[in-house]
Amino acid sequence: MSIVRNLTTFKMGSVVDLFEGVSMWLMLALVTTTLIRNKVFYNLGPNLIIMVTNPNLVKKSLLDVDNYHKARPSTFVLSKLVGKSLLTTNGEEWANHRQIFAPALRVEALKGLVNKITKSITSRLDIWEEKVQDGGGLMELEVHHEICIITMEAISHMLFSNIDQKTQQVFFQLKTLFETVSQATTNRFFTISGYSILPTMNNRKMVNVAQEVDKTIKQIIQIRHAQAKANKTSYGDDLLGLMLTSMDGEKVGDVIKCQLSIQDVFNECKTFFLGGFETTSTFMTWTMLLLAEYPEWQGHARKEILEVCGPNIEMDTSKLNQMKNVGMILNEVHRLFTILPRMLRVATNDTKLGDIFVPKGLILEIPTFQIHQNPTLWGEDAMEFNPNRFAKGVSKACQDPQGFIPFSFGPRYCIGQNLAMLQSKLIVAKVLSRFQLSVSPNYIHNPQHLATLTPKFGVQLHVKKLPPSTSS
Ligand code: HEM
Repeated sequence: MSIVRNLTTFKMGSVVDLFEGVSMWLMLALVTTTLIRNKVFYNLGPNLIIMVTNPNLVKKSLLDVDNYHKARPSTFVLSKLVGKSLLTTNGEEWANHRQIFAPALRVEALKGLVNKITKSITSRLDIWEEKVQDGGGLMELEVHHEICIITMEAISHMLFSNIDQKTQQVFFQLKTLFETVSQATTNRFFTISGYSILPTMNNRKMVNVAQEVDKTIKQIIQIRHAQAKANKTSYGDDLLGLMLTSMDGEKVGDVIKCQLSIQDVFNECKTFFLGGFETTSTFMTWTMLLLAEYPEWQGHARKEILEVCGPNIEMDTSKLNQMKNVGMILNEVHRLFTILPRMLRVATNDTKLGDIFVPKGLILEIPTFQIHQNPTLWGEDAMEFNPNRFAKGVSKACQDPQGFIPFSFGPRYCIGQNLAMLQSKLIVAKVLSRFQLSVSPNYIHNPQHLATLTPKFGVQLHVKKLPPSTSS
């Protein structure tokens, strides 16, 4: 059996899996599952849920942001983490926020970040190199931790232009908040209404950490305000600068558009920080694991990186676009290790989806993970790691283009997609040009679905420095 089969064998889309941590007896008492004309419906407490796996219906529901809003419980977890923000709001409020941020995350706007992100990666890899030398040419590395640091720095560049003590403080506080909220979701009483406001130890910790994060972000904002005032300059062109400018309100005629409140700024800072590092870091960690497991693909990618970027691995966005093998590998990792394994929507009106009547309040579950591994869409080798399937593009890899939606689809597709792919290619290029990776016997496979699909015990790899002829 291939390692991918082993790697991806965690339960997804099953009714029991829906709310991890809820004890079996409670689930059995609450859940009834019905199969009507090949469509799976199930009840979870008062909620009726339908699982949508047909790519055409997935597309319809994701396009229709008026009739389908983001649904609890995903918004419950997220609202604990980030409050009301781009991730959790709907309707006009969401559209206004999206309009503010979208221009800053287009490919053109991100070009300026390439050098800064590359510098951060290089300085971290220099530390790897020292450790490898100390270890006599080989070392074992827990890559998840390492990648988290690299991605945190990239997101800090985008949000705050720089990395200093305060931005690092926000990162560690948010990481603790993420862990506390994740911890709460594994509690068997988590889904019981009102449980989250009881003064349990974890709930109190969650509130305290959330307050600390707000306090640190407030200090960062105050410093930026003071600097802009003292130097009589704008707030800057990073995301924080953009948000502070929007707090003053953009005037169109007599109407003030897109005005953010100070609470919005706190929440969006948290959203981008968490959205930016948690997703990309876990995605990159799985990528490193699969590259380590498939040395032949490591070789294809390394050869291409050296050909495109030259021996000094000089990179810009056009070079990143030329890395076809790297792109195929990343797509295949997205398919097999879908970082956000499901999306939930709730019908806001009585409506129809294909031939199904969808009453107001019905929850739609889109099990992206299952769709990405469905043999009807991907062929009999759907469970194999085979980047070649993407050689002629997504439309040739899958029976239906909507069968591949790692970043979702429609108006609410991931706003950070370009940044995530840019960072991913930079990290893969820099790591493979300097090191050979293999899986350590100490690696224990245990992917767990918290807010994202993460490796429970980290990912331990053996890292070897490449001879100068193959590395920069
Ligand atoms: C490999 C990395 C990433 C993956 C796989 C990913 C995936 C996704 C998916 C599937 C959604 C849609 C969720 C839903 O509608 O239920 C989403 C939304 C979002 N993502 Fe990402 N994401 C990644 C990286 C990022 C980064 C780097 C950022 C920030 C810079 C980010 C910020 C967001 C935000 C703010 C939304 C909400 C957009 C909206 O509703 O308008 N993501 N992401």
